[in-house]
Amino acid sequence: MCPVADPLQLISDLLTPVFAEIAGRDGADPTVRPSDRADAQVNGALPLAKQVGSNPRDIAQRVVDSGVLQQVCSSVEIAGPGFINLTFDDAWLAQQLDAVAADDRLGVAPASRGRRVVVDYSAPNVAKEMHVGHLRSTVIGDSLVRTLEFLGHTVVRENHIGDWGRPFGMLIEHLLDIGEEAAAAENQRDLDAFYKAANAKFTEDEEFAERSRERVVKLQSYDPETIALWNRLVEMSAEYFNRIYTALGVKLTNDDLAGESRYQPLMQDVYARLESAGLLEESDGAKVVFPPGFTNRDNEPLPLIVKSSAGAFMYATSDLACVLDRVERVGADLLLYVVGAPQAQHFNMVFEVCRMAGLLQPPVDAVHVPFGSILGPDKKMLRSRSGDAVKLIELLDEAVERAGAAIAEKNPDLDADARASVARQIGIGAVKYADLSTDRVRDYIFDWDRMLAFDGNTAPYLQYAHARICSIFRRAGIDRESVRGLPMSIAEPQERQLAQRLLQYPTAIADTMASYSPNKLANYLFDLAQDFTAFYEHCPVMKADEPVRASRLAICDLTARTLQHGLALLGIESPDAM
Ligand code: ARG
Repeated sequence: MCPVADPLQLISDLLTPVFAEIAGRDGADPTVRPSDRADAQVNGALPLAKQVGSNPRDIAQRVVDSGVLQQVCSSVEIAGPGFINLTFDDAWLAQQLDAVAADDRLGVAPASRGRRVVVDYSAPNVAKEMHVGHLRSTVIGDSLVRTLEFLGHTVVRENHIGDWGRPFGMLIEHLLDIGEEAAAAENQRDLDAFYKAANAKFTEDEEFAERSRERVVKLQSYDPETIALWNRLVEMSAEYFNRIYTALGVKLTNDDLAGESRYQPLMQDVYARLESAGLLEESDGAKVVFPPGFTNRDNEPLPLIVKSSAGAFMYATSDLACVLDRVERVGADLLLYVVGAPQAQHFNMVFEVCRMAGLLQPPVDAVHVPFGSILGPDKKMLRSRSGDAVKLIELLDEAVERAGAAIAEKNPDLDADARASVARQIGIGAVKYADLSTDRVRDYIFDWDRMLAFDGNTAPYLQYAHARICSIFRRAGIDRESVRGLPMSIAEPQERQLAQRLLQYPTAIADTMASYSPNKLANYLFDLAQDFTAFYEHCPVMKADEPVRASRLAICDLTARTLQHGLALLGIESPDAM
């Protein structure tokens, strides 16, 4: 059983029946908030007084007189117009902390209703370099997947790669022209170059263009030889993507590939359903649906094009089919799409059309989880020096290299093997954390020096806080396990602050998942690391007398566990030494 860890939550739970009793109905919110004057304050007496037509201070007094607060507070004071200021009882805080320390889940309860969640993330395009937008999708999606799984949901990862469409005609013909071996080598070295070469031939060489067009027709009719060649192309790109996934340490494999091609056979079905629901309209020769509430710049209704005037199904059609597949075949009741903000309208229209057609009905829900761009130092889209798309594999190599240099400077005693592994953990962690710690809908500037700094809101700072705790135990020759279960006591202000922060871990995770915003968890961990730093500066650990020493060691251990656990939910490793 998970204890209710967060004191604010617990106070709120204790006061809810008291408020209900005074209000004469359920649903009056005690509104418990952090406070600068005390540990917490209860603000709900003011609106409640208004409701029942009474004086707020009298209502606050009735709340205090209920006696429930005295179970957990050493001081309860009515202030100003009717706020109630609370100071938690130290012994009670310590007890809560003991309960959390005894819990493998650190106080985080599994979701009361386990859902089946499809997470659509990463989604690069075959035969194209993965760009930094795909990096964001991969890193954010991976963190959401890890957190959902920890909360007990069943997660189906789907990597919706762009693996279908007209360019595959020329790509297949180019593959045939240069031979499989050369193609494989080229695709491992430079995906874009392969694409560009095919494209150049397509525009210059009419015979090649003609072959390519015929090849598209064969592909669309699932000609076996063509499908085999297409498969090879997809495999080559997947191998390339997998190198990046391995370097990043994200949970994506070939088993998770679920590209656009998968939905081609379902599009006719979707079309028929929209037709029988009477939703299809004719517009400039195309078949479209007008979902209410979407307009263009001139305020005219905006259509979702399902079939072009030339009779072709569209990207939107494949996403409609994809919803159908996820709901009816996969049996998911929550669909998350971690895709850049520019596709917001596309998804909102697709979801709306699905609702109109009855493909998406409560309790099944679909959510677009958008994100902004990664910018270069010039505040424009991040590009390589040559002006091309940044090659992610090179970016990640550079991160590890830079982290290695920083480590060599900071800790010259680390042996070469340890240094290589720590450099990887820090370098990759820094890139991921820079992304995850910013509000995902905002753009951010990619800045090596900032993300690799050992101070500030960075992965190295958090990893260092963890490693520092490990080293306290290492230097003292104390096994961390041995302090688990020792009773904790709380006295100093920094100790109280750290204790309260540790107890807020479940709330940080709940807030993170309420809006699918990993930056909330990141910011919590940063606050935790800062609280630990203050604690460690003011409260001697090894030099304290027993039983304070044992208690502080236990607090150190719990802090390290929480840091490591939270970083792991972000997909970031925590080295023991660095
Ligand atoms: N491949 C697309 C891109 O690179 C993203 C696909 C996102 N997922 C989806 N179901 N449409 O922009």
